[in-house]
Amino acid sequence: MKNPNERLRGLKSLTGPFQAFDTSRLPENPGELFLQWLNLAIENEVKEPHAMTLSTVDADGYPDARVLILKDVVGDAFYFATGSESRKGQQLKGNPHVALTFYWPQLGRQVRIRGTAIDMGKEMGRQIFGSDR
Ligand SMILES: Cc1cc2nc3c(=O)[nH]c(=O)nc-3n(C[C@H](O)[C@H](O)[C@H](O)COP(=O)(O)O)c2cc1C
Repeated sequence: MKNPNERLRGLKSLTGPFQAFDTSRLPENPGELFLQWLNLAIENEVKEPHAMTLSTVDADGYPDARVLILKDVVGDAFYFATGSESRKGQQLKGNPHVALTFYWPQLGRQVRIRGTAIDMGKEMGRQIFGSDR
């Protein structure tokens, strides 16, 4: 069997060519730019482009992170569904500051978002997401 550490050192990252990003033609709203980029990710067959890392902070001030599915983007609000009793749910009750991270290798693009999480309630979870996870 090949040595995985040797293989790790040989792995490439950010291998282009990639489409240029024209910063002189930005939409008003960052959410709109995100949706344009998401479209590009889907067109370039990025696998699960809606999978994102949600980072939270625990009661001791330590960061925590896990992958979630993005459910909706409205204006500059990014929606996800999860259980309020989960570890992340508890962390968000104590400290609503969050970060979201996406990485789309085929585009060579990473999206980093920082914000404040708001609990929209179980009813919203049921109506829009088909579950109250
Ligand atoms: C691709 C993928 C998608 C996921 N989507 C969700 C999701 O939308 N909501 C969720 O609560 N957990 C989702 N999970 C599970 C979380 O990553 C996590 O393991 C779980 O929610 C428990 O996290 P916690 O202990 O920090 O609360 C997903 C995991 C993967 C790998």
